[in-house]
Amino acid sequence: MRTSQPQTIYLSDYKVPAYLVDTVDLRFELFEDGARVHSTLELRRNPESDETAAPLELDGDSLTLESVALNGAALAAGDYEDRGDQLVVRSVPEQFTLTVVTWIEPQNNTRLEGLYKSSGMFCTQCEAEGFRCITFFPDRPDVMARFRTRIEANKDAYPVLLSNGNDVEKGELENGRHFVTWEDPFPKPCYLFALVAGDLVEKRDTFSTCSGRDIDLRMYVEPRNAEKCDHAMDSLKRSMRWDEEVYGREYDLDIFMIVAVDDFNMGAMENKGLNIFNSSCVLASQETATDLAFQRIEAIVAHEYFHNWSGNRVTCRDWFQLSLKEGFTVFRDSQFSADMGSPTVKRIEDVTLLRTAQFAEDGGPMSHPVRPASYMEISNFYTLTIYEKGAEVVRMIHTLLGPDMFRKGSDLYFERHDGQAVTTDDFVKAMEDASGRDLSQFRLWYEQAGTPVLAISDDFDAETGVYRLTIEQSIPDTPGQTNKKPQHIPFALGLLGQDGQPLPLQLESGDSGAPTERVLELTEAVHTFEFHGVESRPVPSLLRHFSAPVRVRYNWSREQLLFLMSHDPDGFNRWDAGQRLAVDVIQSLVNAPDDAEIDPRLVEAYRKLISDADLDQALVAKMLQLPSEAYLIELTDKADVPAIHRAREAVLRHLAGALKGELLGCYQRHQGSGPYEVTPEAIARRSLRNTALAWLLMIDDEEGRSLAVSQLNAADNMTDRMGALRALVNSGFESDRQEALDDFYNRFQDDPQVVEQWFSVQAASDQAGQLSDIHKLLEHPAFDWKNPNKIRSVVGAFAGQNLAAFHNPDGSGYQFLADQVCRLDDSNPQIAARLVTPLTRWRKFAPSYSDRMKSALERIRDKAGLSRDVYEVVHKSLA
Ligand code: ARG
Ligand code: ZN
Repeated sequence: MRTSQPQTIYLSDYKVPAYLVDTVDLRFELFEDGARVHSTLELRRNPESDETAAPLELDGDSLTLESVALNGAALAAGDYEDRGDQLVVRSVPEQFTLTVVTWIEPQNNTRLEGLYKSSGMFCTQCEAEGFRCITFFPDRPDVMARFRTRIEANKDAYPVLLSNGNDVEKGELENGRHFVTWEDPFPKPCYLFALVAGDLVEKRDTFSTCSGRDIDLRMYVEPRNAEKCDHAMDSLKRSMRWDEEVYGREYDLDIFMIVAVDDFNMGAMENKGLNIFNSSCVLASQETATDLAFQRIEAIVAHEYFHNWSGNRVTCRDWFQLSLKEGFTVFRDSQFSADMGSPTVKRIEDVTLLRTAQFAEDGGPMSHPVRPASYMEISNFYTLTIYEKGAEVVRMIHTLLGPDMFRKGSDLYFERHDGQAVTTDDFVKAMEDASGRDLSQFRLWYEQAGTPVLAISDDFDAETGVYRLTIEQSIPDTPGQTNKKPQHIPFALGLLGQDGQPLPLQLESGDSGAPTERVLELTEAVHTFEFHGVESRPVPSLLRHFSAPVRVRYNWSREQLLFLMSHDPDGFNRWDAGQRLAVDVIQSLVNAPDDAEIDPRLVEAYRKLISDADLDQALVAKMLQLPSEAYLIELTDKADVPAIHRAREAVLRHLAGALKGELLGCYQRHQGSGPYEVTPEAIARRSLRNTALAWLLMIDDEEGRSLAVSQLNAADNMTDRMGALRALVNSGFESDRQEALDDFYNRFQDDPQVVEQWFSVQAASDQAGQLSDIHKLLEHPAFDWKNPNKIRSVVGAFAGQNLAAFHNPDGSGYQFLADQVCRLDDSNPQIAARLVTPLTRWRKFAPSYSDRMKSALERIRDKAGLSRDVYEVVHKSLA
C-alpha cells in the first residue's frame, strides 16, 4: 500500500547494476497457510559499475523476512536493514553468498503478482516486478542468473510440481510431502521465473527440431479441461516449425510446458520453458470456443513460444525497452497468423485494433512513445502502444529492408545479443548493420509519441500527363512532447486508371515498365511526387496494406471509394475504402433528422458484396462489418455517443431492411455442411452467416428469429451457438432472448470460459446490458470479484463495448465504473488501473459527458490509499 506520492522513474537515470547474481538456489516450502522461501544467491560486484562502495540493495514487496546470512553466518539485526520495499546490507565483500528466508501468503495474494493461488493450485506471475513479492532480489531484467528450484508440498494435494528448465531430482518427504528440483541451464532475469504446484493432468506430445532433437511437450490443466488441449498443442507445434523456417530459431531446452490457470491478470506469460496461460487464452473445444477464440489461442501460444528467442534468449535491459521484446514478438506472431490463415484478413484485424484502440491511446492522456522515457508503475505500460504500435514499427523496418535483409538483420540481432539484456537501439543497430541502411531518422518512431497525420492532396495535368501527389506529415503534441520532427515513413501506393487497371508508377517520364505499386519513403515535412505518362485522372490507392501506423487525410469522393471497393487489387485497401464510405455515410447521419436519406449507393455496394459468390468470402465477411462505435468515436472530436449509436443503428437497420432477401440468400448459401473445421474458408462462412442473422434480427425479422432459434438448438459448435445467441440478445424479441440466455447458462454453467462469454454477450448489449442488468450480473452466483476474467466480461465489456449504455447522459455509467475501480483498487490494482481506461478519454466527448466523466475520475482520485497503478492513470488523465 502506498503511503506517499509515487515516484517517477526515468530512463535517463539508468545505471548498470552494482551487483550481479550468478546463481539462485531456491527452496519453496508450500503450505496451506503460507510458504517459506529459502533463497541462496551467489553475488559479486559488477566490474562495469562505478559504484564501488555501494551497499547491496535488494527489492522486496509484501515479504516477511525471517533471516539473512552472509557467507553462511547469520547477520545480526544491525548488519542489515529491512525497509519493506528493500533489504539493504551495508557492507559486503567483492564476492559472497547471501541466504535470505522469507515468509509469504500466496493464499491471500489477490493482486495475482508473485506467488498466488488459483483454483487450489499455486502459480506465479513475475513480469514485470512480481519476483520481489516472492523473495528479496535485484528485481531488474539486466540481472541474469542461473536458477535451481526445489519445491516441497503435500503430495496428495499437489502431485505436480513445476519450475523452469529440467527436473533433476525428486523424492518423498515426511508427513505425506514430496519434492521436485528443477534446474534451468540458461541464465535469465527473475521476471522469467515460474513455479506451479497443483493437482493437474498432463497432456504430452513431441516435437522434432530441425537439428533432430526430440522436445518433450507437456500441457498441464485441471482434470475437467483435459479435452480442451488439442488446439493449443497443435498451435505450439506449428509455431515451433514456423520459427525454424522463417527465423531459423530452434528450441533450446528438452522440455516445453504450458499450464492453464483460471485467475490471471493478463493473457499469458513466456516464463522460460514453462509458459503460464490464462485459461481463456489456451483451452478450446469445438463446443466451447468460438472461431475467434481458436484464432486468438493460436496467436497467443505462438506469441509466448516466440518469446523464447525474442525476449528470453535476448531480453530487455530495463523496462523502458519493453517493446524490444513485445513489439517484435507481436510482429512475429502476426506474420505467423497471416501464414496460417488469410494474410489480408489478419491485416484487417490488426489495423482495426490499432486504429480503434491504439490511436485512441496515442491521442489520450496516457500517450507515450514506443520507448517511454518515464513511468510510475510499469504495469501500466503493457499497452497497445508498446505491443501493437511497437509491432508496426518493426513491420516498417521489414517493409523498408525487404524480407531477406530483415532476416539477415534478425539473425545478426540474435547472434550478437544472445544471452544479453539489450535496448531497442541495439535492435535497430543490428538491422542497420546487416542491411547497410541508415535508420537514424527512423529511430524517432521509438522516441516520439502520437499518431502522425498525412494530409494528402493531388492534381492532374491532362496536357502533360502528370499526376502530382503532395504529402504533408505532422505529428500532434502529446503530454510532455511538442514540436516534433518529421519521421521516416514507408508509404505504399498504387494508381488506378478509369477502367480499374493498375497504372505503372513512372517517377520519370518514359519508364513504361515501372512497377504498379511502390513504397515511397517520406522523410521531410512535405513531399511532392510526380507520376508521368498518366492519361486520365487516376484514383489513388493510398497507404496500401497500411504500410505505416498513420492517419491519412485525403478528400475522397464517395464515387472514388465505391470504385476502390470493387477495383483495388490490394484487398486491404478495398476493405478500407468500404470502411471509409460507411464512416462517411454514418457521420452524415449523426444528429440528422429521422427521415434523412441514406445514400442508396451504400446499399447497392453491400448488395453486391452479399450476393457475389465469386468474391473472396473471407474478405467479404470483413467488409460487411460496419465500423464500430468505438472507431466512429475515435474519429470524432466532441463525441455524442448516443447520437453516434443511433446513426450507426439506423444505417444497419436500413441496410438490413433493403437487403433482406440477399441476407436470407447469404444465410442459406453458407449453411454449414460436413464436419466442423477451423479453416479460413469455414470461418468466413460462419462469419457471413452470423452477420446475416444479426442484421435480420436488428429489424426484428420473424424469419430471422426462427432461423436464430433453430440455429441455437442445432449448433454443434460455439461460433454458431454464440452467433445465434448474440443475435437474439441484441434483438427486440425479449422472451426469446431470456429463454435463450437461460438455456445457454444451464447447459454451460460448469464451464468458466463459456460463462465468461455468457456474461459478456449481455454486458456488451444495449438490449440486455443496461446498468440495472449489469448490477444483476454482478450479483449472479457465477460472478467472482477475485477473478479478472469475470470482471472483464461484465465491467470491462459494459464500459468498453456497450457504449451507449455506458455513456448514459445522466452519468450513471461513469459513477458505476468509478465505484468498481475503487472497490478493486485494494484487491487487484493492475485490473483496477486497466478498468479506468474508458474514463481517461473524457476530453474526447461532448461537454455534458466529459464533465461527468471527469467528476467520476476525481472521485477515484480522492479514494484513500490509492494504489500506484491507479494513481498514475488518474493523475495523468486529470493533468
Ligand atoms: N510478457 C507477457 C506477454 O506475453 C505479458 C506479461 C504482462 N504482465 C504484466 N504484469 N503486465 O505479453
Ligand atoms: Zn509478449
